[in-house]
Amino acid sequence: MSGKTKVGILLSGRGSNMMALVEQASGYEVTLAASDKPDAAGIAWARDHGLATFVQSPKGIPKAEYEATIDAALREADVEIIALAGYMRLLTDEFVARWRGRIVNIHPSLLPKYKGLDTHARAIAAGDTVGGCSVHVVTEELDGGEVLGQAEVPILPGDTPDTLAARVLAAEHRLYPRILAEFCAR
Ligand code: GRF
Repeated sequence: MSGKTKVGILLSGRGSNMMALVEQASGYEVTLAASDKPDAAGIAWARDHGLATFVQSPKGIPKAEYEATIDAALREADVEIIALAGYMRLLTDEFVARWRGRIVNIHPSLLPKYKGLDTHARAIAAGDTVGGCSVHVVTEELDGGEVLGQAEVPILPGDTPDTLAARVLAAEHRLYPRILAEFCAR
């Protein structure tokens, strides 16, 4: 027994935050990477790196059934904490309630600003000079749970949503592993 908190990661895409969580893991271990997208680049990386993976497309099955398969895979992997990392699907209230206080997410804004999508475009349009990312507890309210940690980056003249996203993403990769380790230790 390692005594480390077992973390399951849910992702839908490129998985760069998952990679950061795996590569910088301390005090926790990633025992499952699960995706709703069979062709997610992050899942290929996870397989290549010997992680246990689970893929279940929600297509054609009722949402509750889809989530039940994920729930079973997480429990099979002894997952204690779920880390969302670019998981582009809303979890049902029932799923959140079953894992109450044990799901965290990284969001590319300084919450409570810019919940939801297109955070970087909205920050630039608002004339903000500082942007960033937040790690928060997942509740039934979208991007609304307790903020566990944040990192700020400057928004520079001439920034586009893409240039700002790249700067914020680098900050995400430093913030998420640190905050997840703290969360698992508390
Ligand atoms: C990140 O910007 C994260 O903040 C947001 O979705 C993006 C996922 O990127 N929730 P990646 O798949 O981790 O590379």
